[in-house]
Amino acid sequence: MPTNASTNPLGEAWPRVRTPWPARTAPLYGQDFASDPISYYESLRKTFGPVAPVALEETGAFRGYLVLDHAYQLEILQNRGQVWTRDSRWYRDFAEGALPPHPLIPQLAYRRSRLYAEGMEHTRLSHPGNKALAELNLLRTRDLIEDLAEQLIASFSPEGGPAEWNQVDILDQYALQLPLLVMMRLMGMDEGSALATGNAIHEMLSGGPGAQRAAAELDSRMRALVEEKQRAPGPDLVSWMHHFNRHSQSELDTHELSEDVWLQIVAGRGGSTTWICNTVLELLSNPELNADVVAGRCQMEEAMNRVMWVNAPIQNLIGRWATQDTMLGGYPVNRGDMAIICLGATGADPTMLSGSFDVSRTNRSHLAWGAGAHGCPAPDLGTLIVRTGLEVLWNRLPGLRLAVPKERLTWDLPYMARTPTALPVTFPFPPMPLTNGHQWTAQQSFISNPPRPISTEPKAKPSEPQGRLPLWRSLVAWWPKR
Ligand code: HEM
Repeated sequence: MPTNASTNPLGEAWPRVRTPWPARTAPLYGQDFASDPISYYESLRKTFGPVAPVALEETGAFRGYLVLDHAYQLEILQNRGQVWTRDSRWYRDFAEGALPPHPLIPQLAYRRSRLYAEGMEHTRLSHPGNKALAELNLLRTRDLIEDLAEQLIASFSPEGGPAEWNQVDILDQYALQLPLLVMMRLMGMDEGSALATGNAIHEMLSGGPGAQRAAAELDSRMRALVEEKQRAPGPDLVSWMHHFNRHSQSELDTHELSEDVWLQIVAGRGGSTTWICNTVLELLSNPELNADVVAGRCQMEEAMNRVMWVNAPIQNLIGRWATQDTMLGGYPVNRGDMAIICLGATGADPTMLSGSFDVSRTNRSHLAWGAGAHGCPAPDLGTLIVRTGLEVLWNRLPGLRLAVPKERLTWDLPYMARTPTALPVTFPFPPMPLTNGHQWTAQQSFISNPPRPISTEPKAKPSEPQGRLPLWRSLVAWWPKR
């Protein structure tokens, strides 16, 4: 739907009079926020209650309502009152060009994808991607993840030959690599384009001078992948997306399919990377929990679930926008204002810690996967990537420990994901020998071939089985850099 500075996405003029922004605004930037966001959210809750007006930079123009309590978060995410949208064209200050430069702002720009769509359009854009994900054979996918994890661990060998103790940055050399390699492999990329795509994603997300060029390169790579799989389908998610798209009532065009492939790769990488990193940190700084996991008294998945509560991988969902004037936590909110869902604060929400909430029983009611129509469509795959990555690490590198005290880690600003800038760990060398008897091979694919479309055109040559092990081994070994 067309929009410009003076109209909202429905084509209506923005109201001339707005309820003034609250007198008190808290900074959502700076050292206190970066080094200990969980305590920071607590202090905001004490000062403001369940909702706090915040600014994301010094001028105060880039601002929103930070939603700290579970009940309010759920209300917005489920959106039963049809007040909130994920369509950023509803962000009035953005539409009117009133925002100062900020690294987050390019990420809010509207794209024609399910992430920004609502209602029937959201259902339409999500259909081929969700149906294709449901085709994955998760047992085989686990073998693939294990294999890629093993390859990464094999590339940890110390410079200058084996030493008794080895040190790696587990964020840079493992957590950042594994989910991205898995997602690219599931999409059916060959080694060459996976290498280029991986580098472009890292460059785009770094927000540096090359970010814009990298984003454009990614768009054209996704489009090329989608076109290639249409010509020559294979056993991969993109080919299955084409299959379900062809059988749907309102087909997605190539651009829309490319957007969804892009989104699945980038979203799959982001949450999984941070969840691996935060669980490694939790286990290595919580000796009792680690001892329970090592002794098998606590499943890895329980430790991961604890992290969803106490250090959620995605700290803040920026954002949701009000499509009508409303009230939120006692504040009058204007149409076009932003709400930020603070998932990082949920674990300390007093209403979740009292009454019927019992920490001794497994409780997955955290909102770390989001909720409602825009909730994560791939929690099973995400859990599998993270759990397998952690289990391989714990099996192969017993004795893993932090190389620096937790207090000395430095942190990126936790606007969306929260990770340290590096997570150095040490482990005794060499790693434990391989025990897994279920090595993944290209012959045992994680997904079948989609049925062939009936065509009158000359038959295209079927694509080669992707990711034959020797090729991917060399990619993994070659590419351990951000
Ligand atoms: C493993 C860790 C993961 C976490 C913690 C996570 C978390 C989330 C969250 C919180 C959202 C909601 C965003 C919002 O409401 O604004 C979301 C959406 C999404 N996630 Fe995940 N995710 C993970 C893995 C994955 C994987 C493996 C995929 C691969 C397909 C994926 C694909 C998506 C997509 C496509 C959306 C957008 C859904 C929509 O707007 O309709 N995620 N994820």
